[in-house]
Amino acid sequence: MKGIILAGGAGSRLFPLTLVASKQLQPVFDKPMVYYPLTTLIEGGIRELCLISTPQDLPRFQQLLGDGSAWGLTIDYREQAKPAGIAQAFLIAESFIAGDAVTLILGDNIFYGGDSFQKAFADFKSGAAIFGYHVNDPERYGVVEFDAHGQAISIEEKPKQPRSNYAVPGLYIYDHSVVSVAKNLKPSARGELEITDLNVAYLRRGALHVYRLGRGFAWLDAGTSSSLHEASAYVQTIEKRAGIKIGCPEEAAFRSGFISLAQLSAVTSQMPKCEYRDYLAAVVAEAERLKVQK
Ligand code: G1P
Repeated sequence: MKGIILAGGAGSRLFPLTLVASKQLQPVFDKPMVYYPLTTLIEGGIRELCLISTPQDLPRFQQLLGDGSAWGLTIDYREQAKPAGIAQAFLIAESFIAGDAVTLILGDNIFYGGDSFQKAFADFKSGAAIFGYHVNDPERYGVVEFDAHGQAISIEEKPKQPRSNYAVPGLYIYDHSVVSVAKNLKPSARGELEITDLNVAYLRRGALHVYRLGRGFAWLDAGTSSSLHEASAYVQTIEKRAGIKIGCPEEAAFRSGFISLAQLSAVTSQMPKCEYRDYLAAVVAEAERLKVQK
């Protein structure tokens, strides 16, 4: 399974924050927003990544994430010249996907808790898999409707009258056919290749699996100033209470076996003195203690 992080868009709803730094580079409590979806993919065992952003912002992501080797990853970078829809990502990344299955995650989606994604990645064979998450304001999202047997029967993009409270979060899994399905999409009324149209195409073929995410799962989006602030407050609350970090790619890469304890220790020691480094140093110390005990 390969992974695409889509970090494009003008971030106009966060203006003026986004005048000089893109939305996905904004801080969510103690780290850049893009660290969270990056960590979600690493936790899912995905190590071949492609990040797509605007020509203007791409160099900043390259500066932040490099070639991914610090986390045992490879990261390709591709430009989305104009914001022409989420589904356009599959056309931009065609040569990166190269006939494999692929997960797309939106750079402003923050997920926390449970192992639903790991299970979906492991169970995935063909077609497409997406998720449904109960929200208060479904009209802001893609909305999936289920029948009495829990089967998805419709998906609509930002409907004025939603048929359910189940929004589709920004993590999508597709088989190799996604590129040809995306090539057959027509731009919507707002001139974009819609991810919802892509999902509807799979649904019509009977090839779409929709998992419902349970109540213990948190999905936050950080696309407006209020939701950005709420996401920061959420992350701070959990991190302070539990003494763990959410969205820490170094730790996730170590726990996923992408980097060794020695590599984690080396990466940590190169960081300036800060709370993030102290946290990782504690992760290293604990792992060393457990190794000695074995
Ligand atoms: C996009 C999708 C929508 C999905 C949402 C998840 O909306 O079009 O179907 O539910 O991401 O964050 P946008 O963020 O472009 O408004």
